[in-house]
Amino acid sequence: MNREEAVKLLKKHVKTDRVLRHSYAVEAAMIAYAKKFGEDEQRWGLLGLLHDIDFEKYPDDHPNHAPELLQGTGLDDGFIDSVLSHGVNVDVPRDSKERQCLHAVDEMASFIIAVALMRPTKFEGLKAKSVKKKMKDKAFAKAVNREELISSMEALGVEFADHVSTIVQGLKEHEELLRQQGYSLLH
Ligand SMILES: [Fe+2]
Ligand SMILES: [Fe+2]
Repeated sequence: MNREEAVKLLKKHVKTDRVLRHSYAVEAAMIAYAKKFGEDEQRWGLLGLLHDIDFEKYPDDHPNHAPELLQGTGLDDGFIDSVLSHGVNVDVPRDSKERQCLHAVDEMASFIIAVALMRPTKFEGLKAKSVKKKMKDKAFAKAVNREELISSMEALGVEFADHVSTIVQGLKEHEELLRQQGYSLLH
């Protein structure tokens, strides 16, 4: 499956901009990490793009319905298990880099976009310090579990400043690509 096909499939099941934007954000972060770790950018990008594919249809039982939406698309079982692994009450262990990475960037990518939206220069010059400050601000993006942002990052084995700069860089590059397609992460 290529990116174009994946976007088409995603849009079949995801209609709200909120989930679509989140999917692109996690895709961006996954690609950035694939580059950093020398992993398969195509696969990691698709994993980010499709990880919440069943969220709108099954918000209370997500991501358990992802397999049925991804079946017959040529994606392998390991990929589908990796999608499942980011769920809260799922039996699939986060026992590979792609799974640890997906978990570590899932909430953080969207959190960083929320921080960027508060800044005049958006992603430009966005440093770990600003992200940390907003993490301490309990009223800001309060649905995001701060402890999980940190524990998932530690499980991936990266440092905070490094984590933020990898994701910011990924978001910045992806924003350029998306803009060419008439979309923006920053709206
Ligand atoms: Fe999810
Ligand atoms: Fe997600």
